[in-house]
Amino acid sequence: MILIDGKKEAANLREELKKEVSQLKTKYNKVPSLTVILIGDLTPSQIYVRNKEKSAKEVGLKSEVIKYPDRVEETTILNKIHELNKDETVSGILVQLPLPRHINKKKVIEAIIPEKDVDGFHPMNVGNLSSGYESSVPCTPLGCYLLIKKVEPNLSGKKAVVIGRSNLNGKPMTQLLLKENCTVTITHSKTKDLKGECLKGDIVVAAVGIPELVKGDWIKKDSIVIDVGINKTEKGIVGDVAFEEVSKIAKAITPVPGGVGPMTIACLLKNTIECFKRLQS
Ligand code: GUN
Repeated sequence: MILIDGKKEAANLREELKKEVSQLKTKYNKVPSLTVILIGDLTPSQIYVRNKEKSAKEVGLKSEVIKYPDRVEETTILNKIHELNKDETVSGILVQLPLPRHINKKKVIEAIIPEKDVDGFHPMNVGNLSSGYESSVPCTPLGCYLLIKKVEPNLSGKKAVVIGRSNLNGKPMTQLLLKENCTVTITHSKTKDLKGECLKGDIVVAAVGIPELVKGDWIKKDSIVIDVGINKTEKGIVGDVAFEEVSKIAKAITPVPGGVGPMTIACLLKNTIECFKRLQS
């Protein structure tokens, strides 16, 4: 069984990105820069943002965090985004989710110009990805995709099962797997026989937020299992996959923590660099 080491893969990717940033600095005499907007004081969001900032600095990117209190008005955020859109020193903009309820997520996502949308959430990027054109790709599914490709470089004809249909993960994950010529089944809470569907998968990506939903007898022998879940339970943080059972059956599996999580942040840095390069051309 291959334990997919997301920490190690993310460190390798950061090393590559560091070299690229250094080359870009020589070529353009400036480095890509990421601005993160953080609203409110949710602990997970604060931890994510701190990690993003640390990783950005590590690869030599410029990084700035703009913090607002929970009660900030929507127009203040939208105006700040418009300002950052025009700011030539900013390559990527990310507004940390979730947002307070009085702020309209759709408006915020659509306010960021697609060229600086490092999350790949803007409808223009979503459309470009599904049409097979160049686009920013959401960081979590991009991280999953890179981990899958490390284990299995040729995915053509493989059966992939994605559990969860969110805009953040499930849908873009499906697009990336389709591009690789997988036969993709996207499943969700209304799927009739989830276990039966999972059993058909050469690749299973679980991104539903249900602790240890995917059991050992849901998985075909020699499949690749990617666990996107981060669930707080009495026994600590667990994924969407029952790791102990599934690791006995699968060919390769990501642990939680130390699997998809570190890759997500490394992919955000990658997206920031891609945005910078596209903005120069
Ligand atoms: N909150 C949790 N994951 C993400 C993400 O990928 N992007 C943003 N903007 N917020 C998040």
